[in-house]
Amino acid sequence: MIDKGGISLKYVNAIVVFLVLLHMYFGAGDYTDIGCSERERRALVDFKNSLDFESKWLSSWGDEDEKKECCKWQGVKCSNSAGRVVKLDLKAHSLHGKIYPSLMELQYLEYLDLSSNSLHEDQNLKWLSHLSDLQYLDLSSVYLSTANDWLTVVSGLRKLSTLKLSTCHLPPPTLNTSLYLINASPLVTLDLGQNYLYVPTSSILFQWLFKFNTTLVSLDLSSNHFYGLIPSAFGKMMVLRELDLSDNQLQGMIPKSFGNLFSLKALNLSRNYQLNGSLVFLHNFSSCANNSMLESLVLHSNSFSGSLPDFSVFPLLKEIDLHNNKLNGSLTTSIRNLFELETFDVSYNYLEDVISELHLSNLSKLRSLDLSSNSNISLNLGSNWVPPFNLEFLNLRSCKLGPKFPNWLATQNNLSLLDISCNEISDTIPKWFEDSTPNMHYLNLSWNQIHGRLPNLSKKFPSLAVLDMSFNFFEGRLPSFPANLTILNLSKNIISGSILSSCKTITSPSLLMYLDLSNNQLSGVLPDYCVSKWTSLQILNLADNNFSGEIPSSVGSLRQIQTLKLRGNSFFGELPLSLRYCEKLIFMDLGNNKFLGKVPAWIGESLLALRVLIMRSNKFNGSIPSSLCGLTRLCILDLSQNSIFGNIPHCLSKLTSMYLGSSNGTKDVDGFSYIFINRVPNNWVYGSCTYLNTHANSAAVVIKGGVLVIHSSTLPFLRLIDLSGNKLTGKIPGELSSLSGLTSLNLSRNDLSGEIPQNMDEIEELNSLDLSQNRLSGRIPMSMCNFSFLDYLDLSYNNLHGRIPFSRSLSTFSASAFIGNQALCGPPLTENCPIEATSNRTRHGDEFKRWFKVGMGMGFFIGFWGIFGSLCLNRTWRHAYFLFLYKVKDWVLLRLALYIARLQTRFKRNNNH
Ligand SMILES: *[C@@H]1O[C@H](CO)[C@@H](O)[C@H](O)[C@H]1NC(C)=O
Ligand SMILES: *[C@@H]1O[C@H](CO)[C@@H](O)[C@H](O)[C@H]1NC(C)=O
Ligand SMILES: *[C@@H]1O[C@H](CO)[C@@H](O)[C@H](O)[C@H]1NC(C)=O
Ligand SMILES: *[C@@H]1O[C@H](CO)[C@@H](O)[C@H](O)[C@H]1NC(C)=O
Ligand SMILES: *[C@@H]1O[C@H](CO)[C@@H](O)[C@H](O)[C@H]1NC(C)=O
Repeated sequence: MIDKGGISLKYVNAIVVFLVLLHMYFGAGDYTDIGCSERERRALVDFKNSLDFESKWLSSWGDEDEKKECCKWQGVKCSNSAGRVVKLDLKAHSLHGKIYPSLMELQYLEYLDLSSNSLHEDQNLKWLSHLSDLQYLDLSSVYLSTANDWLTVVSGLRKLSTLKLSTCHLPPPTLNTSLYLINASPLVTLDLGQNYLYVPTSSILFQWLFKFNTTLVSLDLSSNHFYGLIPSAFGKMMVLRELDLSDNQLQGMIPKSFGNLFSLKALNLSRNYQLNGSLVFLHNFSSCANNSMLESLVLHSNSFSGSLPDFSVFPLLKEIDLHNNKLNGSLTTSIRNLFELETFDVSYNYLEDVISELHLSNLSKLRSLDLSSNSNISLNLGSNWVPPFNLEFLNLRSCKLGPKFPNWLATQNNLSLLDISCNEISDTIPKWFEDSTPNMHYLNLSWNQIHGRLPNLSKKFPSLAVLDMSFNFFEGRLPSFPANLTILNLSKNIISGSILSSCKTITSPSLLMYLDLSNNQLSGVLPDYCVSKWTSLQILNLADNNFSGEIPSSVGSLRQIQTLKLRGNSFFGELPLSLRYCEKLIFMDLGNNKFLGKVPAWIGESLLALRVLIMRSNKFNGSIPSSLCGLTRLCILDLSQNSIFGNIPHCLSKLTSMYLGSSNGTKDVDGFSYIFINRVPNNWVYGSCTYLNTHANSAAVVIKGGVLVIHSSTLPFLRLIDLSGNKLTGKIPGELSSLSGLTSLNLSRNDLSGEIPQNMDEIEELNSLDLSQNRLSGRIPMSMCNFSFLDYLDLSYNNLHGRIPFSRSLSTFSASAFIGNQALCGPPLTENCPIEATSNRTRHGDEFKRWFKVGMGMGFFIGFWGIFGSLCLNRTWRHAYFLFLYKVKDWVLLRLALYIARLQTRFKRNNNH
């Protein structure tokens, strides 16, 4: 039992001590005798009164008689002798509003801190220039976006030694040549971080900065979009201890002069992305003094290459973060004697090495180790090894730990993050692994060959938020999961049984945002109460299991859901009306189930965020509701292989995200996986063990006759309509041709009649067109020769007649694309057409060949361009040319020619508008 009396007594004592201190600090002593001047008091009251609302913290400030003594006010301190206000510290007291320039009356002010409030200054900082005694100025997070004079004003404060203006929305400083004339103040600390100033390193700001190179000790210029080379003048800052240039757009190599920064303790150049060259400049840090002072080296997310520097010359290093660079070579020699090392991150580089116990034996202070995703790092550690450290963060993805489960991990009982994915571990989970690791938040064992039952994790890892065990051979039933789980990925295992039991353990409301159980052998229904608890869920993937039953109506409570994948199960029944409440849905794949009923009209009325709608291979019937035309963000519409009848709605032409050049924003679909992936640099090339959650936002659609699994990265380029295998009747609406960005159109295996629309060629990007097995009649429109990118065509089994138009794009298809049409003739079919037409074609072909030879004579390029120019005039020649290139298999030229042809088409179209 806690002794309540004891506690309260201590409490009272503490308050007394606190009050005494407070009295000594603000009230007592010399200043009170003299009292603050009326002028200064007035200035402070005016400042207070101009704030947006009364601040409790400033209640001691006021006009009333008992408040007269302003030296006793909160945050105000006066000088001993003259009773003048010398210090005003209002940091972080939730003050709102404009800074009233009355503060300029505080002419003896040496220390001014207004930071971390919600203050702003409307025009300029002129009032500040009156405070010529200022030594310490912190206006961080004061909104100063219109204060163009800020640099002029602060450079006039000659006594200033600390200047902090971070997160002020500062405007780029204006050029004022008189700045050069002002003598430099002894600036020691300068923080301009997070202002996104967007100026080059050659700008006046840097010229001003370098005037302080003998005094600056701490310099923070992070997050400013500064661009250009790093000026070598930094190398003159001999007393500099902390330099932060992170999150800018600096380029090129580190200047050699950096080798002179002998006093440096912390260097942060991270997230410039384009800094390159080698890191050997670091060796000069230590060349004078025997011991370098460097404690923190943060250079991640750049393009540094070559080998790692020899860290042994930096014995004081605590933090090394070089992740996401292009460093190669070995790793081990340089870290062996870093006795102080706490954080070591070299992930996402091209390092190679075999790491043994010896290399790690001195790193007793290590807390965070990340060697993941390098070219070839392997850990060769004995199973009885007892590491000298106790880690909190360990990421060894792709470090060849397998085939045995690494037993030395048993000693690491303080882990908060453990990632040993992609390690070729083909073992069962050892017993010790189930011992409680109370702090574990993130556990990733994915992409191994771990087999056996899933351990019960709810007791062992009570704090677990992220669990990824996908792509293994885990079997058995779902265990119960920790209550605070946010991300759960068990896809691609052989887990069976129902999800009933694990639902029970999830206390409501669940924090689960991401649930992927796809590609297992789960069965049974989706319990109503289970779904009703998933109120935070954003991604639900149950694809490719054996689930059955109806979708519970509680699905309507998934108000956050963006991705819903139920593909490849045996779900049946009608879609519940409540699904229309899932208004954030972007990606819905219901394919390959046994759903029935009409295609619901409410999909087009409520689910307006949809970009991907896949309902293929079900038993949906009714007609296509015209409301679907309201899904203006749709990129994939797949209703194939159902029993849908009626006409194709003309209004499908309103699916504007299928227009050429429309940005369909499918990147948003990815938003979530970025969180999940943590930090995967753009330039990383994945090996066979693709950590990317490839199937999280993939969809299986049929293109060019084969099933293609679309990954979210290809989605932006794909726009597809598949209505095949239904009972659609009537004509193909000519309006479809306005979907100029459509890449794939499949209307085959329906009962469509009438002619192929004349202007199909306006679908410029069309890559695959399948109109087979309908009752289409008439001729194949000449305009179909204009397709530039058509790779797949199927017009077979219709009632088409006449000559197959001659062109590169049509004649390269085999006869199978045209068979089953009784009255079609000409190549590639064997049926001949009337003679007249044939001779016509030959003539043009011969003409082309003649000109081409002339062209060759004039030199290839002139020939190429010359002929190409004339192709604009003569379409038949153009086709002959394509055919020629096609026959000589000059793929490069063919692509180039196609590309130019496409530009020309576009150009023509633009001119026509
Ligand atoms: C330049 O700075 C000087 C000195 O602070 C000031 O008097 C002058 O008005 C400034 N000029 C401009 C154009 O801002
Ligand atoms: C290191 O310093 C030496 C002597 O000052 C100089 O010659 C050399 O270029 C420097 N090396 C680097 C990489 O900065
Ligand atoms: C590191 O990369 C550079 C060029 O990128 C190459 O010249 C060098 O041989 C590589 N070193 C090792 C050890 O692979
Ligand atoms: C689960 O989350 C809640 C709210 O964030 C927190 O209070 C609780 O301590 C967490 N439980 C565990 C076991 O970590
Ligand atoms: C069009 O759909 C049918 C039936 O759904 C399919 O068999 C065919 O392969 C598809 N065509 C293309 C080009 O993908």
